[in-house]
Amino acid sequence: MVTMIPADRIEQLNAASARRPIDPDVMLPGGLGDGQVLPEELLSVAGLDLELTRDQWARLSREELASITEAGIHFEAVLTAGFALLIARERELRAPFVTYLLHEIGEESRHSRLFVRLLDELAPEAQNPFARGLLGFLADRGVRAMVGFPALLYVLVLGGEEIPDLLQKRAGEHPDTDPFLREVNQYHRQEEARHLSFARTMLPAVWRRASPIDRCAVRFVAPCVIRGMFDLLVHPGVYATVGLPGWATWWNVRRAPKRIELRHRATRPVLGALLAAGVFRRGDVPRLWRGLCGVDAVGGATDQA
Ligand SMILES: [Fe+2]
Ligand SMILES: [Fe+2]
Repeated sequence: MVTMIPADRIEQLNAASARRPIDPDVMLPGGLGDGQVLPEELLSVAGLDLELTRDQWARLSREELASITEAGIHFEAVLTAGFALLIARERELRAPFVTYLLHEIGEESRHSRLFVRLLDELAPEAQNPFARGLLGFLADRGVRAMVGFPALLYVLVLGGEEIPDLLQKRAGEHPDTDPFLREVNQYHRQEEARHLSFARTMLPAVWRRASPIDRCAVRFVAPCVIRGMFDLLVHPGVYATVGLPGWATWWNVRRAPKRIELRHRATRPVLGALLAAGVFRRGDVPRLWRGLCGVDAVGGATDQA
């Protein structure tokens, strides 16, 4: 895997990660406030004209944040599993990208420890229907299959890092976001910026070596999984905690124009990376990717998002 990967760029990222390792238990010792942690307009139900009491908004904001945080910890664990598998299969362990994979695994581990602290504070009560029964079983099998395909893994990593990046950017810019949450988001985004840069840098070489099945999965499976990641950030059980009908609200959120616009904005950079890496040609963007990102065959936006 050494050839065709821009080693200089990877070495720069290695140096940046080595320069300032941040332990969140030391650098971010604070905690969340008691009330609403995210403003109403940044919650998934924005635009649904819900009439809720102040207490319900506070509860909903905390349960939404907990749901997103749980999804984040699970995503980082899948990324770690996939990257660890790449290292286990790699012959050239001195290649700079292997060192970077180790940096990234270390950084994700620290992020996840901080996210677990957030969960401790939020103590969510919502039950996630996607974590149980047949849906839970299928998700587990899907995860096991996905980590074994390098191109698919890198594309899903891009998806799983771009989506929270936009959410955390929006939360960070809003004056009504909980101050500690803003600090958490700032810390996370600064390290994720390097991870995104790494995934974009690796993608052309990973793609050139990808198997036909892996390439097929990037075309057809990745857009579905990324859409699922976005839709499942806030699961139906969250809405039920404030007395809303869980599944009905979840479906309404999925169809809400504001939510669709947010999905488009969050996922277009992923498609941009695929186009830049030569995975797809402009004029030949696959249908599922067009739907995910709200673009046409050349990758141009079909809305104002
Ligand atoms: Fe992270
Ligand atoms: Fe990351």
